[in-house]
Amino acid sequence: MRKKIIAGNWKMNAVKEEAIALLNGIVEQYNTYNLSPNKSVIIAAPFPYIDYCATQFSNFQFLHAAAQNCSEYEQGAYTGEVSAKIIASLGVQYVIIGHSERRQYFNENDFVLLAKIKQAQLQNLVPIFCCGEPIEVRENEEHFSFIKQQLSHCIFHLTPQEIKNCIIAYEPIWAIGTGKTATQEQAQEMHAFIRKEIENKFDKPIADSISILYGGSVNAVNAADLFVSNDIDGALVGGASLKINDFSTIINAMPS
Ligand code: 13P
Repeated sequence: MRKKIIAGNWKMNAVKEEAIALLNGIVEQYNTYNLSPNKSVIIAAPFPYIDYCATQFSNFQFLHAAAQNCSEYEQGAYTGEVSAKIIASLGVQYVIIGHSERRQYFNENDFVLLAKIKQAQLQNLVPIFCCGEPIEVRENEEHFSFIKQQLSHCIFHLTPQEIKNCIIAYEPIWAIGTGKTATQEQAQEMHAFIRKEIENKFDKPIADSISILYGGSVNAVNAADLFVSNDIDGALVGGASLKINDFSTIINAMPS
């Protein structure tokens, strides 16, 4: 049975006191969450907090820390960069790779993203690989070929063993931060397509084992509707992960 995951991506938000309050809030509400070996929560806080996050969560079996990015290089003279090796040394277990904001504002291309995934896996970090189409692509009804290309250019270069240790997040760009979430049908359709593409490239057991998260304006109200879908294994939540009560509602909206 594949894992269900509710992940919060704080992006570049929360000053120190806010970050501590949010993390403490999650820990305080832990006992109210319906978590299990098959369902966990991941928080991708900004870099300065990931050490604290990993330390706080280390006593809670189903809470995990993530980074929002890592360097494509292993170590050395790369001022301002943070390596997968440094991230892993903090006890962090996951890293988001290829978020559309990184692709768009920091020009991260498929080649760089693949190098980042390799670095992450070298350090036993699980990459959360993001894909998603812009609005023009969907309006032109080219979204399936667009996503197929994003997969083919990046994670389809991994070995079967490597892809098994990835999480995928489908985040249509037009739904990110816009309040305009994909419908349950749109999200399910794309998730099933992604799973089928993985099956075609690798095999069915691998495709069936990979968690595919949906991201894009997931909130306390729409989460339960999205989570009824067969191929939606959880969510990558932006804005609503900064509000403790909303995030807790989203966590519990996913059956365990
Ligand atoms: P929002 O939930 O704010 O739309 O952000 C989604 C996202 O980009 C998560 O990575």
